[in-house]
Amino acid sequence: MEAIQTTSEKTARSVYIHTFGCQMNVNDTDRILQVLEPHGFSPASEPSNASLIILNTCSVREKAENKVLSELGRLAPLKEYNEDLILSVSGCVAQQEGKKLLSKVPYLDLVFGPDNIGQLPELLDRVRGSKERVAETTFFKRKDYEFIEAEPRKDETRVCDFVTIMKGCDKVCSFCIVPFTRGREVSKPGDMVVREVEKLVATGIRDVTLLGQNVNSYGKDKNREVHFAELLRRVDKVEGLERLRFTTSHPSDCTDELVSCFGDLRTLCEFFHLPVQSGSDTVLESMRRPYTVEHYMGRVKALRGQCPDMSLSTDIIVGYPGETEDDHRKTVELLDEVRYDSIFAFKYSPRPGTRAARLEDNVPMDVKNRRLQEILSLQDTITKERRQRYLDQTVEVLFEGPSRASRKNAVNEWQIMGRTRSNLIVNTPVPVGEFWANRWVGKLGRVKVTELKSNSLYGHLV
Ligand code: 5AD
Ligand code: SF4
Repeated sequence: MEAIQTTSEKTARSVYIHTFGCQMNVNDTDRILQVLEPHGFSPASEPSNASLIILNTCSVREKAENKVLSELGRLAPLKEYNEDLILSVSGCVAQQEGKKLLSKVPYLDLVFGPDNIGQLPELLDRVRGSKERVAETTFFKRKDYEFIEAEPRKDETRVCDFVTIMKGCDKVCSFCIVPFTRGREVSKPGDMVVREVEKLVATGIRDVTLLGQNVNSYGKDKNREVHFAELLRRVDKVEGLERLRFTTSHPSDCTDELVSCFGDLRTLCEFFHLPVQSGSDTVLESMRRPYTVEHYMGRVKALRGQCPDMSLSTDIIVGYPGETEDDHRKTVELLDEVRYDSIFAFKYSPRPGTRAARLEDNVPMDVKNRRLQEILSLQDTITKERRQRYLDQTVEVLFEGPSRASRKNAVNEWQIMGRTRSNLIVNTPVPVGEFWANRWVGKLGRVKVTELKSNSLYGHLV
Protein backbone atom coordinates (compact mmCIF):
# COMPACT_ATOMS: atom_id res chain seq x y z
CA MET A 1 0.00 0.00 0.00
CA GLU A 2 1.00 3.56 -0.58
CA ALA A 3 2.62 5.55 2.22
CA ILE A 4 0.98 8.77 3.39
CA GLN A 5 1.89 11.44 0.87
CA THR A 6 3.52 14.70 1.76
CA THR A 7 2.56 17.75 -0.28
CA SER A 8 5.90 17.83 -2.05
CA GLU A 9 5.62 14.19 -3.03
CA LYS A 10 2.17 14.89 -4.35
CA THR A 11 3.20 17.83 -6.50
CA ALA A 12 6.15 15.85 -7.86
CA ARG A 13 3.73 13.52 -9.56
CA SER A 14 3.13 14.33 -13.18
CA VAL A 15 1.73 12.39 -16.07
CA TYR A 16 2.50 12.61 -19.76
CA ILE A 17 -0.07 11.00 -22.07
CA HIS A 18 0.56 10.44 -25.77
CA THR A 19 -2.84 9.95 -27.37
CA PHE A 20 -3.13 8.03 -30.64
CA GLY A 21 -6.22 7.59 -32.81
CA CYS A 22 -9.77 8.74 -32.57
CA GLN A 23 -11.79 11.19 -30.51
CA MET A 24 -12.82 8.35 -28.24
CA ASN A 25 -9.19 8.04 -27.17
CA VAL A 26 -8.87 11.80 -26.69
CA ASN A 27 -11.85 11.53 -24.38
CA ASP A 28 -10.32 8.59 -22.53
CA THR A 29 -7.17 10.65 -22.02
CA ASP A 30 -9.28 13.34 -20.35
CA ARG A 31 -10.86 10.72 -18.08
CA ILE A 32 -7.40 9.35 -17.18
CA LEU A 33 -6.29 12.85 -16.17
CA GLN A 34 -9.52 13.30 -14.22
CA VAL A 35 -9.04 10.04 -12.32
CA LEU A 36 -5.39 10.83 -11.53
CA GLU A 37 -5.87 14.43 -10.43
CA PRO A 38 -7.16 13.67 -6.89
CA HIS A 39 -4.05 11.52 -6.47
CA GLY A 40 -1.78 14.50 -6.95
CA PHE A 41 -0.94 14.08 -10.65
CA SER A 42 -0.64 17.13 -12.85
CA PRO A 43 -0.08 17.00 -16.62
CA ALA A 44 3.59 17.07 -17.70
CA SER A 45 4.56 19.10 -20.74
CA GLU A 46 7.00 16.46 -22.01
CA PRO A 47 7.89 12.84 -21.27
CA SER A 48 11.20 13.69 -19.61
CA ASN A 49 9.38 15.70 -16.89
CA ALA A 50 6.91 12.96 -16.09
CA SER A 51 6.77 10.38 -13.33
CA LEU A 52 4.15 8.44 -15.28
CA ILE A 53 4.04 8.07 -19.07
CA ILE A 54 0.99 6.58 -20.73
CA LEU A 55 0.70 5.70 -24.41
CA ASN A 56 -3.03 5.71 -25.08
CA THR A 57 -3.11 3.61 -28.21
CA CYS A 58 -5.28 2.89 -31.23
CA SER A 59 -5.43 -0.30 -33.27
CA VAL A 60 -8.20 0.40 -35.73
CA ARG A 61 -5.91 0.50 -38.77
CA GLU A 62 -2.37 -0.25 -39.91
CA LYS A 63 0.43 -1.71 -37.89
CA ALA A 64 -0.57 0.06 -34.74
CA GLU A 65 1.27 -2.25 -32.41
CA ASN A 66 4.58 -1.62 -34.19
CA LYS A 67 4.11 2.12 -33.74
CA VAL A 68 3.59 1.60 -30.03
CA LEU A 69 6.62 -0.66 -29.71
CA SER A 70 8.89 1.84 -31.45
CA GLU A 71 7.55 4.71 -29.32
CA LEU A 72 8.24 2.61 -26.21
CA GLY A 73 11.76 2.02 -27.49
CA ARG A 74 12.31 5.77 -27.79
CA LEU A 75 11.07 6.28 -24.22
CA ALA A 76 13.07 3.42 -22.67
CA PRO A 77 16.25 5.46 -21.94
CA LEU A 78 14.22 7.74 -19.65
CA LYS A 79 13.91 4.85 -17.23
CA GLU A 80 17.68 4.86 -16.81
CA TYR A 81 17.57 8.46 -15.61
CA ASN A 82 14.54 8.00 -13.41
CA GLU A 83 14.13 4.57 -11.87
CA ASP A 84 10.74 5.55 -10.39
CA LEU A 85 9.32 6.38 -13.80
CA ILE A 86 6.27 4.25 -14.61
CA LEU A 87 5.79 3.39 -18.26
CA SER A 88 2.32 2.33 -19.27
CA VAL A 89 0.20 1.42 -22.32
CA SER A 90 -3.57 1.93 -22.41
CA GLY A 91 -6.26 1.96 -25.11
CA CYS A 92 -7.00 -0.51 -27.87
CA VAL A 93 -3.53 -2.05 -28.30
CA ALA A 94 -3.40 -2.61 -24.53
CA GLN A 95 -6.80 -4.31 -24.64
CA GLN A 96 -5.83 -6.44 -27.61
CA GLU A 97 -2.40 -7.52 -26.38
CA GLY A 98 -2.89 -7.56 -22.59
CA LYS A 99 -0.06 -9.16 -20.70
CA LYS A 100 1.63 -10.29 -23.93
CA LEU A 101 2.84 -6.70 -24.14
CA LEU A 102 4.58 -7.05 -20.78
CA SER A 103 6.54 -10.04 -22.04
CA LYS A 104 7.44 -8.28 -25.28
CA VAL A 105 8.61 -5.11 -23.54
CA PRO A 106 10.65 -5.91 -20.40
CA TYR A 107 10.75 -2.29 -19.17
CA LEU A 108 6.98 -1.77 -19.49
CA ASP A 109 5.33 -1.50 -16.06
CA LEU A 110 1.60 -1.32 -16.67
CA VAL A 111 -0.98 -2.27 -19.31
CA PHE A 112 -4.64 -1.33 -18.84
CA GLY A 113 -7.70 -1.43 -21.10
CA PRO A 114 -10.35 1.23 -21.77
CA ASP A 115 -12.72 -0.34 -19.20
CA ASN A 116 -10.07 -0.15 -16.47
CA ILE A 117 -9.42 3.60 -16.38
CA GLY A 118 -11.34 3.94 -13.09
CA GLN A 119 -9.01 1.36 -11.47
CA LEU A 120 -5.87 3.23 -12.48
CA PRO A 121 -4.97 4.57 -9.00
CA GLU A 122 -5.09 1.04 -7.51
CA LEU A 123 -3.11 -0.38 -10.43
CA LEU A 124 -0.45 2.28 -9.92
CA ASP A 125 -0.32 1.44 -6.22
CA ARG A 126 0.37 -2.17 -7.12
CA VAL A 127 3.14 -1.18 -9.52
CA ARG A 128 4.73 1.22 -7.02
CA GLY A 129 4.09 -0.71 -3.84
CA SER A 130 5.12 -4.23 -4.75
CA LYS A 131 7.14 -3.41 -7.86
CA GLU A 132 4.75 -5.71 -9.66
CA ARG A 133 4.32 -5.43 -13.42
CA VAL A 134 0.59 -5.28 -13.99
CA ALA A 135 -1.77 -6.00 -16.90
CA GLU A 136 -5.48 -5.34 -16.30
CA THR A 137 -7.74 -5.65 -19.31
CA THR A 138 -10.86 -7.34 -17.97
CA PHE A 139 -14.09 -6.04 -19.45
CA PHE A 140 -16.84 -5.31 -17.00
CA LYS A 141 -20.13 -7.12 -17.55
CA ARG A 142 -22.61 -4.77 -19.19
CA LYS A 143 -24.70 -4.53 -16.03
CA ASP A 144 -21.66 -3.72 -13.91
CA TYR A 145 -20.07 -1.12 -16.17
CA GLU A 146 -20.11 2.37 -14.70
CA PHE A 147 -19.24 5.50 -16.58
CA ILE A 148 -16.91 8.06 -15.04
CA GLU A 149 -18.93 11.27 -15.11
CA ALA A 150 -16.86 13.71 -17.15
CA GLU A 151 -15.75 16.96 -15.57
CA PRO A 152 -14.82 19.85 -17.87
CA ARG A 153 -11.10 20.50 -18.35
CA LYS A 154 -9.87 23.21 -16.05
CA ASP A 155 -7.00 24.71 -17.93
CA GLU A 156 -8.47 25.57 -21.30
CA THR A 157 -11.11 27.86 -22.62
CA ARG A 158 -12.72 26.23 -25.59
CA VAL A 159 -15.89 26.54 -27.57
CA CYS A 160 -16.35 23.00 -28.93
CA ASP A 161 -16.13 19.75 -27.01
CA PHE A 162 -17.15 16.09 -27.09
CA VAL A 163 -19.38 14.10 -24.75
CA THR A 164 -19.17 10.31 -24.77
CA ILE A 165 -22.66 8.81 -24.67
CA MET A 166 -21.81 5.14 -24.98
CA LYS A 167 -18.97 2.69 -25.12
CA GLY A 168 -18.34 -0.41 -27.19
CA CYS A 169 -20.08 -1.73 -30.27
CA ASP A 170 -22.50 -4.63 -30.81
CA LYS A 171 -22.08 -4.69 -34.60
CA VAL A 172 -20.00 -7.37 -36.25
CA CYS A 173 -18.36 -5.60 -39.20
CA SER A 174 -15.85 -8.17 -40.45
CA PHE A 175 -12.89 -5.78 -40.76
CA CYS A 176 -13.27 -4.01 -37.44
CA ILE A 177 -11.33 -4.50 -34.24
CA VAL A 178 -13.51 -2.20 -32.13
CA PRO A 179 -15.88 -4.88 -30.75
CA PHE A 180 -12.77 -6.71 -29.47
CA THR A 181 -11.01 -3.70 -27.99
CA ARG A 182 -14.03 -1.82 -26.63
CA GLY A 183 -16.41 -4.63 -25.76
CA ARG A 184 -20.20 -4.65 -25.79
CA GLU A 185 -22.30 -1.53 -26.12
CA VAL A 186 -23.20 0.25 -22.90
CA SER A 187 -25.16 3.51 -22.96
CA LYS A 188 -24.39 6.26 -20.51
CA PRO A 189 -27.49 7.22 -18.50
CA GLY A 190 -29.39 10.07 -20.20
CA ASP A 191 -29.33 12.24 -17.06
CA MET A 192 -25.55 11.95 -16.88
CA VAL A 193 -25.20 12.97 -20.54
CA VAL A 194 -27.39 16.02 -19.98
CA ARG A 195 -25.48 16.97 -16.82
CA GLU A 196 -22.15 16.69 -18.63
CA VAL A 197 -23.41 18.94 -21.42
CA GLU A 198 -24.71 21.46 -18.88
CA LYS A 199 -21.37 21.54 -17.09
CA LEU A 200 -19.52 22.11 -20.35
CA VAL A 201 -21.89 24.90 -21.35
CA ALA A 202 -21.28 26.54 -17.96
CA THR A 203 -17.56 26.73 -18.84
CA GLY A 204 -18.22 28.41 -22.19
CA ILE A 205 -18.63 25.42 -24.52
CA ARG A 206 -21.26 26.18 -27.19
CA ASP A 207 -20.80 23.29 -29.62
CA VAL A 208 -21.08 19.70 -28.41
CA THR A 209 -20.52 16.49 -30.37
CA LEU A 210 -22.03 13.34 -28.86
CA LEU A 211 -19.64 10.47 -29.23
CA GLY A 212 -19.95 6.70 -29.60
CA GLN A 213 -19.02 3.92 -32.04
CA ASN A 214 -22.61 3.74 -33.22
CA VAL A 215 -24.60 6.44 -31.47
CA ASN A 216 -27.77 5.49 -33.36
CA SER A 217 -28.13 2.41 -31.19
CA TYR A 218 -27.91 4.47 -28.01
CA GLY A 219 -30.26 3.06 -25.36
CA LYS A 220 -30.77 -0.34 -27.02
CA ASP A 221 -28.87 -2.03 -24.19
CA LYS A 222 -31.21 -0.41 -21.68
CA ASN A 223 -34.38 -1.43 -23.50
CA ARG A 224 -34.45 2.05 -24.90
CA GLU A 225 -35.40 3.81 -21.67
CA VAL A 226 -34.13 6.80 -23.59
CA HIS A 227 -33.41 6.24 -27.27
CA PHE A 228 -31.07 8.33 -29.39
CA ALA A 229 -33.61 10.72 -30.92
CA GLU A 230 -35.02 11.30 -27.43
CA LEU A 231 -31.54 11.98 -26.06
CA LEU A 232 -30.97 14.54 -28.84
CA ARG A 233 -34.21 16.25 -27.89
CA ARG A 234 -33.14 16.42 -24.26
CA VAL A 235 -29.69 17.80 -25.00
CA ASP A 236 -31.14 20.29 -27.47
CA LYS A 237 -33.00 21.91 -24.57
CA VAL A 238 -29.82 22.72 -22.63
CA GLU A 239 -29.80 26.48 -22.27
CA GLY A 240 -26.75 28.19 -23.75
CA LEU A 241 -25.90 25.32 -26.10
CA GLU A 242 -25.77 26.58 -29.69
CA ARG A 243 -24.76 23.56 -31.71
CA LEU A 244 -25.20 19.83 -31.40
CA ARG A 245 -23.57 17.13 -33.54
CA PHE A 246 -22.98 13.41 -33.18
CA THR A 247 -20.64 10.78 -34.49
CA THR A 248 -20.53 8.05 -35.63
CA SER A 249 -23.57 6.42 -37.21
CA HIS A 250 -24.50 3.16 -38.88
CA PRO A 251 -26.74 3.19 -41.98
CA SER A 252 -28.83 0.30 -40.65
CA ASP A 253 -29.81 2.24 -37.53
CA CYS A 254 -30.45 5.63 -39.12
CA THR A 255 -34.17 5.73 -38.39
CA ASP A 256 -36.85 8.04 -39.79
CA GLU A 257 -37.27 9.38 -36.29
CA LEU A 258 -33.62 10.40 -36.21
CA VAL A 259 -33.89 11.97 -39.67
CA SER A 260 -36.88 13.98 -38.50
CA CYS A 261 -34.81 15.54 -35.70
CA PHE A 262 -32.97 17.58 -38.33
CA GLY A 263 -34.87 20.74 -38.88
CA ASP A 264 -36.92 20.15 -35.70
CA LEU A 265 -34.16 20.71 -33.17
CA ARG A 266 -32.71 24.21 -32.87
CA THR A 267 -29.15 23.15 -32.11
CA LEU A 268 -28.82 20.06 -34.30
CA CYS A 269 -26.43 20.97 -37.10
CA GLU A 270 -27.01 20.04 -40.73
CA PHE A 271 -24.05 17.71 -40.72
CA PHE A 272 -24.12 13.92 -40.83
CA HIS A 273 -21.22 11.48 -40.90
CA LEU A 274 -22.67 8.26 -42.30
CA PRO A 275 -19.98 5.66 -43.07
CA VAL A 276 -20.87 3.63 -46.16
CA GLN A 277 -17.51 1.75 -46.46
CA SER A 278 -18.19 0.50 -50.00
CA GLY A 279 -20.50 1.14 -52.96
CA SER A 280 -20.75 -2.55 -53.81
CA ASP A 281 -23.46 -4.77 -52.30
CA THR A 282 -21.18 -7.79 -52.66
CA VAL A 283 -18.44 -6.13 -50.62
CA LEU A 284 -20.93 -4.82 -48.06
CA GLU A 285 -22.25 -8.33 -47.57
CA SER A 286 -18.77 -9.73 -47.09
CA MET A 287 -18.08 -6.89 -44.66
CA ARG A 288 -21.19 -7.96 -42.72
CA ARG A 289 -22.68 -4.53 -43.08
CA PRO A 290 -26.37 -5.48 -43.25
CA TYR A 291 -27.63 -2.87 -45.76
CA THR A 292 -27.56 -2.39 -49.51
CA VAL A 293 -26.45 0.61 -51.53
CA GLU A 294 -30.14 1.15 -52.35
CA HIS A 295 -30.99 1.36 -48.64
CA TYR A 296 -28.09 3.74 -48.06
CA MET A 297 -29.17 6.00 -50.92
CA GLY A 298 -32.68 5.98 -49.44
CA ARG A 299 -31.26 7.32 -46.15
CA VAL A 300 -29.33 10.01 -48.02
CA LYS A 301 -32.49 10.99 -49.84
CA ALA A 302 -34.47 11.12 -46.60
CA LEU A 303 -31.81 13.30 -44.93
CA ARG A 304 -31.65 15.67 -47.88
CA GLY A 305 -35.44 15.68 -48.08
CA GLN A 306 -35.60 16.81 -44.47
CA CYS A 307 -32.75 19.20 -44.85
CA PRO A 308 -31.71 20.09 -48.43
CA ASP A 309 -28.46 21.75 -47.35
CA MET A 310 -27.28 18.75 -45.33
CA SER A 311 -23.50 18.31 -45.36
CA LEU A 312 -22.62 14.64 -45.58
CA SER A 313 -19.39 12.82 -44.94
CA THR A 314 -18.45 9.17 -44.94
CA ASP A 315 -15.76 6.51 -44.43
CA ILE A 316 -14.58 4.34 -47.33
CA ILE A 317 -12.37 1.27 -47.26
CA VAL A 318 -10.58 0.40 -50.51
CA GLY A 319 -9.01 -2.95 -51.28
CA TYR A 320 -11.15 -5.09 -48.97
CA PRO A 321 -10.42 -8.81 -49.65
CA GLY A 322 -11.96 -9.80 -52.97
CA GLU A 323 -12.79 -6.22 -54.03
CA THR A 324 -12.84 -6.28 -57.85
CA GLU A 325 -12.43 -3.39 -60.30
CA ASP A 326 -16.18 -3.52 -60.76
CA ASP A 327 -16.77 -3.21 -56.98
CA HIS A 328 -14.37 -0.27 -56.89
CA ARG A 329 -16.13 1.40 -59.80
CA LYS A 330 -19.39 1.13 -57.86
CA THR A 331 -17.81 2.97 -54.92
CA VAL A 332 -16.64 5.69 -57.30
CA GLU A 333 -20.18 5.93 -58.70
CA LEU A 334 -21.62 6.19 -55.22
CA LEU A 335 -19.34 9.11 -54.38
CA ASP A 336 -20.35 10.76 -57.62
CA GLU A 337 -24.02 10.30 -56.81
CA VAL A 338 -24.05 11.25 -53.12
CA ARG A 339 -21.69 14.23 -53.48
CA TYR A 340 -20.29 14.24 -49.95
CA ASP A 341 -18.78 17.39 -48.51
CA SER A 342 -15.83 15.37 -47.28
CA ILE A 343 -14.74 11.76 -46.85
CA PHE A 344 -12.22 9.66 -44.95
CA ALA A 345 -10.80 6.89 -47.13
CA PHE A 346 -8.54 4.07 -45.95
CA LYS A 347 -6.68 1.16 -47.45
CA TYR A 348 -7.90 -2.08 -45.94
CA SER A 349 -5.53 -3.64 -43.45
CA PRO A 350 -6.27 -6.95 -41.70
CA ARG A 351 -6.82 -6.62 -37.97
CA PRO A 352 -5.87 -9.57 -35.77
CA GLY A 353 -8.77 -11.70 -34.62
CA THR A 354 -11.36 -10.20 -36.99
CA ARG A 355 -13.35 -12.33 -39.45
CA ALA A 356 -11.90 -10.49 -42.44
CA ALA A 357 -8.39 -11.38 -41.26
CA ARG A 358 -9.24 -15.00 -42.12
CA LEU A 359 -9.79 -13.97 -45.74
CA GLU A 360 -6.85 -13.59 -48.07
CA ASP A 361 -5.74 -9.95 -48.22
CA ASN A 362 -5.61 -10.37 -51.98
CA VAL A 363 -5.79 -6.86 -53.41
CA PRO A 364 -2.15 -5.96 -54.14
CA MET A 365 -0.78 -2.84 -52.43
CA ASP A 366 -0.24 -0.98 -55.71
CA VAL A 367 -3.88 -1.59 -56.61
CA LYS A 368 -5.01 -0.38 -53.16
CA ASN A 369 -2.88 2.73 -53.62
CA ARG A 370 -4.30 3.44 -57.06
CA ARG A 371 -7.89 2.93 -55.93
CA LEU A 372 -7.35 5.17 -52.91
CA GLN A 373 -5.87 7.90 -55.14
CA GLU A 374 -8.81 7.68 -57.55
CA ILE A 375 -11.25 8.06 -54.72
CA LEU A 376 -9.41 10.92 -53.05
CA SER A 377 -8.93 12.84 -56.27
CA LEU A 378 -12.59 12.48 -57.29
CA GLN A 379 -13.64 13.60 -53.82
CA ASP A 380 -11.29 16.55 -53.99
CA THR A 381 -13.16 17.81 -57.05
CA ILE A 382 -16.54 17.18 -55.40
CA THR A 383 -15.48 18.89 -52.16
CA LYS A 384 -14.42 22.01 -54.08
CA GLU A 385 -17.63 22.00 -56.05
CA ARG A 386 -19.76 21.59 -52.90
CA ARG A 387 -17.90 24.46 -51.30
CA GLN A 388 -18.94 26.79 -54.17
CA ARG A 389 -22.40 27.02 -52.68
CA TYR A 390 -21.07 29.25 -49.90
CA LEU A 391 -19.56 31.92 -52.16
CA ASP A 392 -21.33 35.29 -51.77
CA GLN A 393 -23.67 33.74 -49.19
CA THR A 394 -24.06 34.87 -45.59
CA VAL A 395 -23.43 32.07 -43.11
CA GLU A 396 -23.81 31.70 -39.35
CA VAL A 397 -20.40 31.32 -37.72
CA LEU A 398 -19.56 30.25 -34.18
CA PHE A 399 -16.24 31.89 -33.33
CA GLU A 400 -13.52 30.02 -31.47
CA GLY A 401 -10.64 32.51 -31.21
CA PRO A 402 -7.83 34.22 -33.09
CA SER A 403 -6.97 32.34 -36.29
CA ARG A 404 -3.76 30.37 -36.38
CA ALA A 405 -2.15 32.90 -38.75
CA SER A 406 -3.05 35.77 -36.39
CA ARG A 407 -1.54 34.01 -33.45
CA LYS A 408 1.67 33.37 -35.40
CA ASN A 409 2.28 36.85 -36.80
CA ALA A 410 -0.06 39.43 -35.40
CA VAL A 411 0.91 42.28 -37.66
CA ASN A 412 -1.34 43.73 -40.30
CA GLU A 413 -4.57 41.87 -40.22
CA TRP A 414 -6.06 40.00 -37.26
CA GLN A 415 -8.46 37.24 -38.06
CA ILE A 416 -10.81 35.25 -35.94
CA MET A 417 -11.55 31.64 -36.69
CA GLY A 418 -14.94 30.03 -36.42
CA ARG A 419 -17.05 27.32 -37.99
CA THR A 420 -20.24 27.11 -40.02
CA ARG A 421 -22.97 24.77 -38.83
CA SER A 422 -21.64 22.36 -41.45
CA ASN A 423 -18.28 22.44 -39.63
CA LEU A 424 -16.30 24.37 -42.25
CA ILE A 425 -13.62 26.73 -40.96
CA VAL A 426 -14.26 30.44 -41.60
CA ASN A 427 -11.70 33.20 -41.06
CA THR A 428 -12.84 36.78 -40.64
CA PRO A 429 -10.78 39.97 -40.21
CA VAL A 430 -11.20 41.99 -37.01
CA PRO A 431 -9.40 45.12 -35.78
CA VAL A 432 -5.79 44.41 -34.76
CA GLY A 433 -5.28 43.15 -31.22
CA GLU A 434 -6.32 40.31 -29.04
CA PHE A 435 -9.08 42.35 -27.43
CA TRP A 436 -11.23 42.31 -30.56
CA ALA A 437 -10.47 38.70 -31.33
CA ASN A 438 -11.30 37.53 -27.83
CA ARG A 439 -14.52 39.51 -27.76
CA TRP A 440 -15.91 37.10 -30.34
CA VAL A 441 -14.92 33.83 -28.67
CA GLY A 442 -18.00 31.67 -28.18
CA LYS A 443 -20.26 34.14 -30.01
CA LEU A 444 -22.31 33.65 -33.13
CA GLY A 445 -21.87 36.08 -36.00
CA ARG A 446 -23.01 36.35 -39.59
CA VAL A 447 -20.30 36.35 -42.22
CA LYS A 448 -20.58 37.13 -45.92
CA VAL A 449 -18.25 34.68 -47.67
CA THR A 450 -16.05 36.42 -50.24
CA GLU A 451 -13.32 33.83 -50.88
CA LEU A 452 -13.00 30.06 -50.91
CA LYS A 453 -9.56 29.00 -49.69
CA SER A 454 -8.27 25.44 -50.02
CA ASN A 455 -9.37 24.34 -46.55
CA SER A 456 -11.50 27.21 -45.32
CA LEU A 457 -13.82 30.07 -46.17
CA TYR A 458 -12.98 33.75 -45.80
CA GLY A 459 -15.37 36.63 -45.39
CA HIS A 460 -16.48 39.71 -43.48
CA LEU A 461 -18.83 40.17 -40.58
CA VAL A 462 -22.16 41.63 -41.60
N1 5AD B 1 -8.85 -1.43 -42.49
C1 5AD B 1 -9.07 -0.21 -43.02
N2 5AD B 1 -9.94 0.67 -42.52
C2 5AD B 1 -10.62 0.32 -41.42
N3 5AD B 1 -11.54 0.98 -40.70
C3 5AD B 1 -11.89 0.20 -39.66
N4 5AD B 1 -11.23 -0.97 -39.70
C4 5AD B 1 -10.43 -0.91 -40.79
C5 5AD B 1 -9.51 -1.82 -41.37
N5 5AD B 1 -9.29 -3.02 -40.86
C6 5AD B 1 -12.05 2.30 -41.04
C7 5AD B 1 -13.56 2.24 -41.35
C8 5AD B 1 -14.16 2.88 -40.15
C9 5AD B 1 -13.11 3.88 -39.77
C10 5AD B 1 -13.19 4.41 -38.39
O1 5AD B 1 -11.89 3.17 -39.94
O2 5AD B 1 -13.81 2.99 -42.51
O3 5AD B 1 -15.43 3.48 -40.42
FE1 SF4 C 1 -16.53 -1.19 -36.10
FE2 SF4 C 1 -18.23 0.82 -36.56
FE3 SF4 C 1 -18.78 -1.67 -37.47
FE4 SF4 C 1 -18.88 -1.11 -34.81
S1 SF4 C 1 -20.23 -0.27 -36.46
S2 SF4 C 1 -17.95 -2.95 -35.77
S3 SF4 C 1 -17.20 0.35 -34.62
S4 SF4 C 1 -17.10 -0.31 -38.12
